[in-house]
Amino acid sequence: MQVLISYHSDYGNTEKMAQSIAAGIRAGCSSANVMLKNVEQTSLNDLQDADVICLGAPVHMGDVSWQMKKFIDEAGKLWMEGALEGKVGAAFVSGGGFGNAGGGAEHALITLHSNMLEHGMLVIGFPKSLLGYGEGGLQWGPYGRSGNAEGMPSVVSEGALAACRSFGAHLAEMAGKILQF
Ligand SMILES: Cc1cc2nc3c(=O)[nH]c(=O)nc-3n(C[C@H](O)[C@H](O)[C@H](O)COP(=O)(O)O)c2cc1C
Repeated sequence: MQVLISYHSDYGNTEKMAQSIAAGIRAGCSSANVMLKNVEQTSLNDLQDADVICLGAPVHMGDVSWQMKKFIDEAGKLWMEGALEGKVGAAFVSGGGFGNAGGGAEHALITLHSNMLEHGMLVIGFPKSLLGYGEGGLQWGPYGRSGNAEGMPSVVSEGALAACRSFGAHLAEMAGKILQF
């Protein structure tokens, strides 16, 4: 099973989440070949070669960062060809969460899901029964909050990274069932 995890990260939080999801996938499926790439180094061929595509971004002004949106728009070429139909998709985001209101994390996750569904992909969410959901889960996927309660910059918690690992294992299991690996 070829898995692509493509992420954008300015300050390392989304990158840490990507690494934890990769560790979870490897733990959940020993035969998974996981490619971890910054979105600015990700090509359309990488998308086409993957069976499972997991996209992650920081929340910027209530949605995904422009670097991720740029890549999404460039991948519109593959929509024309139907090249991603039937692939398994998943999403994760990191945000400061200012004001304890999520700061647009849900919206950013839905942006990623919506685009995957537009391509005809099969999207895997984050069931609340999984380990770590309480600290690092939203029903759409892992959310790592990097701002503290006072709204000051901090880093994603170990609990959120544990949620990423359990999500990765779940994603590998679900993809294995769907794609019959
Ligand atoms: C330009 C900009 C806009 C941001 N807008 C939001 C926002 O709307 N909501 C939010 O929760 N966090 C916002 N943040 C905070 C980042 O999402 C947060 O620091 C995130 O953890 C950064 O991830 P990274 O370390 O992978 O770059 C913003 C940060 C920047 C630089």
